[in-house]
Amino acid sequence: NKKRLIDGFGRQINYLRVSVTDRCDLRCSYCLPKGFKSFEEPAHWLSHEEMARLVGVFVSLGIAKIRLTGGEPLTRKGIADFAAMVSSLDGVEDLSLSTNATRLSGQAQALYSAGIRRLNVSLDTLDKACFASITGRDCLEDVLAGLDVAKSVGFKPIKLNCVVQSGVNVETLHTLFDYSLNNGFVLRLIETMPVGDTGRAAGYVDVTQLGASLARKYGLLPHLDDAGAGPARYWSRGDGLVNFGVITPRSQHFCERCNRVRLGADGTLYLCLGHEDSVPLGTMLRDGASDSAIESEILSAISEKPERHYFNTQPDKVVRFMAQTGG
Ligand code: GTP
Ligand code: 5AD
Ligand code: SF4
Repeated sequence: NKKRLIDGFGRQINYLRVSVTDRCDLRCSYCLPKGFKSFEEPAHWLSHEEMARLVGVFVSLGIAKIRLTGGEPLTRKGIADFAAMVSSLDGVEDLSLSTNATRLSGQAQALYSAGIRRLNVSLDTLDKACFASITGRDCLEDVLAGLDVAKSVGFKPIKLNCVVQSGVNVETLHTLFDYSLNNGFVLRLIETMPVGDTGRAAGYVDVTQLGASLARKYGLLPHLDDAGAGPARYWSRGDGLVNFGVITPRSQHFCERCNRVRLGADGTLYLCLGHEDSVPLGTMLRDGASDSAIESEILSAISEKPERHYFNTQPDKVVRFMAQTGG
């Protein structure tokens, strides 16, 4: 007789995204400003034990899917140990990770052993120079090596997150498409979101149209069943497995199906990617709050989750950078 989190619009919230650090070893142009250093003080970060306790309260309220994000989660010390703590919580059915894969080759096995099964890897292009200019670092080889290891370790599915920016990587998408299909990955094209100054500055491409035309070109069929736990719409070769998808917050938003909330590295609860509304659960925990006090705070926050984002009409709403909440 599990409790459930239902928000004020009748949506069931069963997916928690946990940002374990706001730091990153890359500087993707749409995410962090070049040379950015003003990260949160590590002293404000919750320890793995504190974060696992907070996550445990969410799980007792019906959260069954958990994704670890960042910043770059693999830069956080002991991340595989933390993953193992989370996957051993009674009620966690799905544990996944979003990473830039620069450090994946050395950690993939430990992460799999810790219980992570689904992997989303940020990869915007296979053009070496284009990759370096988007991310600020010439390390495409490390990412591709990480993907190779992850594939052989057994992660399934492995999704490639490709943020499409006008005038930047659009011309290079065909090679990425071929590479993804050949490796059995799921390529997803993503529209830039105006989160932080950097997100606002990134060039927008309507990915609803671009995705449909690429899918037609490659002979893929729309996959109408729900696939995955998130906002993407998918296509398939017709074998029931999805190969390709789009995430279109601007051309066709998906807020009515929203099932998620986010935790920052300091335990701040963010109710929506498109709003600044937050609740300092980490501070409460450090001030000695009981699990049941935290539970009540979560329930009241969820009842006030915003209905949707206003990226198209009010692009200035969110000042925090994407790396703070992990997208
Ligand atoms: P799955 O569980 O694999 O479906 O993951 P996901 O697509 O939810 O997560 P991922 O971390 O791979 O994010 C992919 C893209 O979707 C990123 O650009 C995210 O910012 C975006 N995204 C994820 N959740 C939301 C959301 O609730 N709202 C909006 N607008 N975008 C989101
Ligand atoms: N708009 C859309 N997606 C973004 N991401 C980071 N910043 C933005 C943005 N401004 C994506 C990353 C990563 C995912 C978790 O979020 O590419 O794959
Ligand atoms: Fe949910 Fe907000 Fe994202 Fe919309 S923008 S899908 S309401 S978190």
